[in-house]
Formats: sequence, structure tokens, C-alpha cells
Amino acid sequence: MSEPIIRVRNVSKTFQMGGGFGQKESFEALRGISFDLHAGKTLALVGESGCGKSTVARLITKVHDVTSGEITFKGNNIDQIQSGQALREYRSNVQMVFQDPFGSLNPAHTIAHHLARPIKIHNDVAGDAQLLHRQQELLDMVELNADCLKKFPHQLSGGQRQRINLARALGVGAEMILADEPTSMLDVSIRLGVLNLMQRMKSEMGIGFLYITHDLATAHYIAEETAVMYRGQIVEWGNTRDILTNPQHPYTKLLISAVPDPDLPFSDVIRESSQYSQDAESTRLLSGRLQPDVNQVSENHFVRDWESAA
Ligand SMILES: Nc1ncnc2c1ncn2[C@@H]1O[C@H](COP(=O)(O)OP(=O)(O)O)[C@@H](O)[C@H]1O
Ligand SMILES: [Mg+2]
Repeated sequence: MSEPIIRVRNVSKTFQMGGGFGQKESFEALRGISFDLHAGKTLALVGESGCGKSTVARLITKVHDVTSGEITFKGNNIDQIQSGQALREYRSNVQMVFQDPFGSLNPAHTIAHHLARPIKIHNDVAGDAQLLHRQQELLDMVELNADCLKKFPHQLSGGQRQRINLARALGVGAEMILADEPTSMLDVSIRLGVLNLMQRMKSEMGIGFLYITHDLATAHYIAEETAVMYRGQIVEWGNTRDILTNPQHPYTKLLISAVPDPDLPFSDVIRESSQYSQDAESTRLLSGRLQPDVNQVSENHFVRDWESAA
């Protein structure tokens, strides 16, 4: 495979929280996270709320610094990105798209305005005609009609707003998009359309994606590879198909057993693992301990050790 665009190596993040009376408490949000992100590929980072998914994205976009470990962009440690200019350039290459498609749009401005900014930052557009042409091109890329330009965010549906956010990421020339639960606030009926669009951006434009989700079932629509995360640790990772059809870790099985749709390709696994949901608390307890040992299941399928119930 090609060189990764982003490489995350053994990254840990401890948050210090100011307790009262000078006491400090610390919380280990991430413990030894490693993965690679490639152009034209999607890695799904899957796990329940609070396991550390968004923290991973915030470290990659330099909202927080790593406590230990290393994140590189095209081979260079992102710690080295210091000046405001260098940070802006980096964040143009590596864009975030968030869960709430409304939150990142200004209700007082038209879609034309929202698309003009990234275009002006990224391109030399000479004059209004060229700007309009580029705005229309971006809308076309995300399968929206040119009438959207004069509309305000509230006049669009949630799915259309999320498409605008993806168009803005394309507008600044993003190579890598970190999509943090991009469809979880959308109606079920329009989720698939947004996932399909991301799939096209990947295959036709070569954009790389980190697709963050709590919904393991959606990973197979879009992600070649999946990493399952629990309490700041990646417990199982590799080819999405292998993870979904031959899960090894009890926590992965627990996640799969929570998927309601029997028409998905891993329905047999769901039936077999129905016992896991009954034992959810003990599975969580066993899965949460720090475990350094990793076993290889197949060529691209790895699972962390876990303690079995005594
Ligand atoms: N800035 C912060 N300070 C303290 N704790 C934080 C901070 N950011 C996140 N956390 C904690 O780290 C854990 C992981 O959070 P997060 O990455 O947002 O999880 P997820 O996105 O998987 O729901 C949570 O317990 C959260 O409370
Ligand atoms: Mg989150």
C-alpha cells in the first residue's frame, strides 16, 4: 500500500483536571492508540460514547497535544507545526466534519457565503464569475443543486447541510477528512445517501476518511478497515469484513450483538453472539483493562488480549 497520509503511533492522552484545594485528578482518555490513514481509503473508528473517539480526532487536528506517542502527517511529526500559517495549512489538508451539520454553519449567511470562504482561502479566484463557477462545481461534487447557493442553512435538510460541510472541506483542498459521527443526527432514511457520497469522494477524488461512529453496522458501507475502540484502547482492528464476520474480542461481539438489522452481511454472527448483550457488564469489565499483548488472527486482522472471566 501507499505511504499513509496520517500515521498515529502509540498515542496516549491524559487529561489533567483541576480538583479543588490544589488537588489534581487525571484521566487517561487514550491508551496506546495506533493506526494509519491512507489516501482514497476509509478507516472506521468504532466504539460507544466516551471511549475516546473524538479525542483521537482532536489530537490529529492539534486541538490538544498528545501526552505520549507520535502523530505524523506525510512523514512529519505534527508537533513541529508551530506557526499560525503552518497550522492553517495543515488544517486545510486535514479537515473535520462534525455530527451536528447545523452547528458549523452560520444561520445568518447564505450557502454561497459558506462556500466562498474556503474557495478564497484555497484558490486564486479572479472575479465573481470564477467564484460562482467554483461554488457550482463544489455543489455538483456533493450532489446538490445550484439553487442552494442563495438559501440559508435552515432552508436545507440535515442531509443537505452535511453535504455543504463536505463541500467546504473539498473547497479548502482537504486530502483527509475526519468525519466525527457525520450521520448520527440525520434521519435514518438519508444517512445512506451521505455515506454513499463519502464513498464517492473517496473513490473518485481520492479523499481519505477517518469515519468515527458508534454504529458498527454502518462501517461496512464505507470503510475498508475498522478499528474497534473501548476505554481508550483499540481492542480489535483490520479488514472490516473480517471484523464483522469473524469477531474475536468479546467487546466487538457485544457491539455486533447490539446491531438490530438481520439483513446485514454479518447476521449469522448476530444470532450467535446474542448471549453477549446479556453479559454486557462483565464484558465491559474484562475489556477495559490495559492489555499490551496482541494476537494476529489473519493477514489484516488483529485482536488485543483480554482477561477471561475466572
Ligand atoms: N478536555 C477534556 N478534559 C477532560 N476530560 C476530557 C476532555 N475531553 C474528553 N474528555 C474525556 O475523555 C473521554 C473520551 O471523550 P471523547 O473522546 O469525547 O469520547 P467519544 O468521542 O468516544 O464519545 C470522556 O470520558 C471525556 O469525558
Ligand atoms: Mg465524540
